[in-house]
Amino acid sequence: MKISRRKMLSQSLFIAIGSLFIPISTSFAKSNSKHLSKGLDLIHKVLSRPLDVGIAHLDKCLISNKVDIENQDGFKDYINSLVNVFFGHHHGEDEIMFPTLEDKIKDADFSKLKKQHKELHPLAEKIKEKINTDSPKIDEYREIRSLLQETKNLWIKHRKEEEKTVELEIEPELSSKEQIELSDKLGKHGQSVSKPATLILPFIIYNLEGNDREEFTSDMPWILKKVIVPVIWRNKWEQMKPFLIA
Ligand SMILES: [Fe+2]
Ligand SMILES: [Fe+2]
Repeated sequence: MKISRRKMLSQSLFIAIGSLFIPISTSFAKSNSKHLSKGLDLIHKVLSRPLDVGIAHLDKCLISNKVDIENQDGFKDYINSLVNVFFGHHHGEDEIMFPTLEDKIKDADFSKLKKQHKELHPLAEKIKEKINTDSPKIDEYREIRSLLQETKNLWIKHRKEEEKTVELEIEPELSSKEQIELSDKLGKHGQSVSKPATLILPFIIYNLEGNDREEFTSDMPWILKKVIVPVIWRNKWEQMKPFLIA
């Protein structure tokens, strides 16, 4: 059966974007039962760096008391992508990961993690609202900076707690097969919420570096990581470049 090039590309993209939440790597999962925590570590890194980058950018503007008009559109795309991935990741945990694990593991208790999600979400909503203005004033930058800082403070606690829970309490209770099944579900969910892919995929790839980027892109077809994202989609995400490791 002949598969069209378009279909092959969309399937590749599906896998690539799906892997944002938990990378799909069967060989890794078979040889190492830390499949879930490795995936969490990667996506948590993607969510952590932009908080620091955003705060540093706004600090620079606040010191000079000037809105960075030249980079405003790119900054907007960058922060919107952060909020988008943030919501998508937490939604996948709330709707898929936690319920699946609660079904499988009798004493699993995610109440603290769920409560932390609820505390983080209003902040992300406010950030989204403040960033999406046409001509921002320096006072809005000040407000966004403080919202990012508040998010970062809560996020650091949440990240630590979640990674510890998954690595020490959850993974030992799951087989590699169960981890892969859960990863697949999260992958499909991740794909459905990651829009537009032309911003979200570069946002994820170029907020990772070294081995982390290698790991994240290891299952991607060459054409996607070497041609489509860096060349064909470049004009879509290029405005974010000052904030990325690209
Ligand atoms: Fe998480
Ligand atoms: Fe979480």
